[in-house]
Amino acid sequence: MFLLRAGTTLLLLLVFLGSPRSFSVDYQHDCFRKDGERFRYISGSIHYNRIPRVYWKDRLLKMYMAGLNAIQTYIPWNYHEMYPGQYNFSGDRDVEYFLKLAQDIGFLVILRPGPYICAEWDMGGLPAWLLKNKNIVLRSSDPDYITAVDKWMGKLLPMIKPYLYQNCGPIITVQVENEYGSYFACDYNYLRHLTKLFRSHLGEEVVLFTTDGASPGYLKCGALQDLYATVDFGPGGNVTAAFEAQRYAEPRGPLVNSEFYTGWLDNWGSPHAEVPTAVVAKSLNEILAMGANVNMYMFIGGTNFGYWNGANAPYKPQPTSYDYDAPLTEAGDLTKKYFAIQEVIKELLTISDALDKLSFSGPVNSTNPLTFIELNQVSLDGFLTTLPVNCTKPTPLSSPLNEVHDRAYVSVDGVSAGILERSKVIAINVTGNAGSQLDVLVENMGRINYGKDINDSKGLLSTLYLGTLPLTGWTMYSLSIDEAVSQGLLGDKEATPTDAPQPVALSPPTFYSGSFIIPDGIPDLPQDTYIKLPKWRKGQVWINGFNLGRYWPSRGPQVTLFVPANILSTAAPNNVTVLELEKAPCSAGPCTVEFTADPILNGPVYSDHKQRRRLFSKEDLL
Ligand SMILES: *[C@@H]1O[C@H](CO)[C@@H](O)[C@H](O)[C@H]1NC(C)=O
Ligand SMILES: *[C@@H]1O[C@H](CO)[C@@H](O)[C@H](O)[C@H]1NC(C)=O
Ligand SMILES: *[C@@H]1O[C@H](CO)[C@@H](O)[C@H](O)[C@H]1NC(C)=O
Ligand SMILES: *[C@@H]1O[C@H](CO)[C@@H](O)[C@H](O)[C@H]1NC(C)=O
Ligand SMILES: *[C@@H]1O[C@H](CO)[C@@H](O)[C@H](O)[C@H]1NC(C)=O
Ligand SMILES: *[C@@H]1O[C@H](CO)[C@@H](O)[C@H](O)[C@H]1NC(C)=O
Ligand SMILES: *[C@@H]1O[C@H](CO)[C@@H](O)[C@H](O)[C@H]1NC(C)=O
Repeated sequence: MFLLRAGTTLLLLLVFLGSPRSFSVDYQHDCFRKDGERFRYISGSIHYNRIPRVYWKDRLLKMYMAGLNAIQTYIPWNYHEMYPGQYNFSGDRDVEYFLKLAQDIGFLVILRPGPYICAEWDMGGLPAWLLKNKNIVLRSSDPDYITAVDKWMGKLLPMIKPYLYQNCGPIITVQVENEYGSYFACDYNYLRHLTKLFRSHLGEEVVLFTTDGASPGYLKCGALQDLYATVDFGPGGNVTAAFEAQRYAEPRGPLVNSEFYTGWLDNWGSPHAEVPTAVVAKSLNEILAMGANVNMYMFIGGTNFGYWNGANAPYKPQPTSYDYDAPLTEAGDLTKKYFAIQEVIKELLTISDALDKLSFSGPVNSTNPLTFIELNQVSLDGFLTTLPVNCTKPTPLSSPLNEVHDRAYVSVDGVSAGILERSKVIAINVTGNAGSQLDVLVENMGRINYGKDINDSKGLLSTLYLGTLPLTGWTMYSLSIDEAVSQGLLGDKEATPTDAPQPVALSPPTFYSGSFIIPDGIPDLPQDTYIKLPKWRKGQVWINGFNLGRYWPSRGPQVTLFVPANILSTAAPNNVTVLELEKAPCSAGPCTVEFTADPILNGPVYSDHKQRRRLFSKEDLL
């Protein structure tokens, strides 16, 4: 038994020529757009103020290796203006250097400059000297408070402006205030003032957002027009319900969890907070499967050096360590949680991501789908088009004449929508907005070899219908999967087991790979054997580039595949590649295949077909 994980080298290289840098919210397609392209971030929180500057690069690199494409940080006002008018942005407080470092490593940045940040940081980041004014109402339109905020932001925001994405920096979004809906004041004029202030310094283009607890009660006082409302919630709950709360304030636009809690804060006198890895991985998997954006709070907690810790009320102060049970420890060490999160992120490497690598001949455009023969294809083809209309209600995607030959794996904007199968399922329901990308991966399951129907073409023999509307404008990728596998283009690293998440119903088709060693010098090795894929559903498996064939234990009766000894090697590690078309077991437990001495060809069958008659005759085949 050994372990597999998604290939690590399937990266789609996108090159944008000549277009200006832009980052925006696409309300119509429920996503962010970066340089015009659909974009989703998977981010982690790191607070530069809790990590010595000499370790910034180390921690950021480790976050990058986990698969994140963005980081999120606060800027604590009181850390930079300890005394009124005395600003410090040097050494450990050099936030500009931190932003440059993040950009050099390849990160985008989600910035949370407050003025209030909470963060288990002394007074939530507000300078204590504000309290010299005994009547001040913090976080409100109180003129004394506003004067101080305006002065601070007048210093900070112009410094930040060159680091905005559209100015060639890493910052894609900027948060205004923090969880304002949890504060008693509910002062919309204060939020309006901050919005105007941020816009006056940063410009009209920047995406400003708010973050609040995931329930309408919080969003009521936290959200404001012109500020994109996002939510925060931890693992273990109902992800769909949590995002429904975001939809209360923001009916359209990308789903965003700005604080997905990997751990939790500590208080002096209470046991250290621990959040199980499996719970974190499960919910993360669910969030990503919904196509949502996520920031993991914290990815590394760090340390409240000096006197910087905050406290909760009724009075419960927080300790010096802000380890947070995060994936990277306070000291920057990798934990089991780190590897589990890395695994969940890797599973996103699907066929759609790898189209360019798998399609040596490049895409072909046509009004109606072409057949496999027309595309010189043998096994699998990717068909892409967009939804021409809004399907807010479930709308049938169908092949009314049963002309999907033979199985089509359908996803909308990267989220699995279902499977069409010849003579079994001619319609599934899809939802999505006009312009959403529809990916249809069509599998040839074998050509008819007997009778009048042996002229068995493969592909989408006629176009698919959305409701009553025929879909046109297809881009087709002929996939050279066997070549890609034998050329090792799909990665070959072994994985560690993770007690990762419960799976969603279907995942987009994905490659997994692993390797195993057969020691040399042992007489009679290697031998013929059988491979078994317990809990895998349907797909194709290769060993050392040799295509062993199809597996489909979820349909039965065949459970094992024959592995001839001649393809196995004692001289080098043997490479196994699995293309799982429906759903890999990796998200529910260890992702393994097994070798067994005995074949199983009579496993259970899961089919709506009635048993045949007792005797087999040629008539049964007609
Ligand atoms: C500014 O902060 C840095 C880093 O904490 C510190 O080394 C330096 O002494 C501070 N400068 C002043 C003038 O306080
Ligand atoms: C999660 O919430 C959604 C939406 O409120 C609901 O339809 C679904 O049944 C819930 N799931 C569970 C397991 O409670
Ligand atoms: C094919 O269609 C896609 C999507 O509409 C388009 O971006 C691309 O430029 C087209 N390619 C050719 C060669 O016409
Ligand atoms: C889809 O809905 C959006 C708003 O929800 C609307 O702006 C757009 O025009 C609609 N598109 C079509 C093709 O109906
Ligand atoms: C599609 O959704 C409609 C409305 O919810 C439902 O009546 C129908 O049975 C669904 N069809 C399929 C194929 O799931
Ligand atoms: C196969 O050939 C028969 C007889 O010529 C014809 O009626 C049928 O349409 C063909 N089927 C396909 C899928 O081309
Ligand atoms: C397995 O893949 C590795 C890395 O590509 C390669 O060095 C090795 O030779 C392969 N093993 C066999 C038996 O082909």
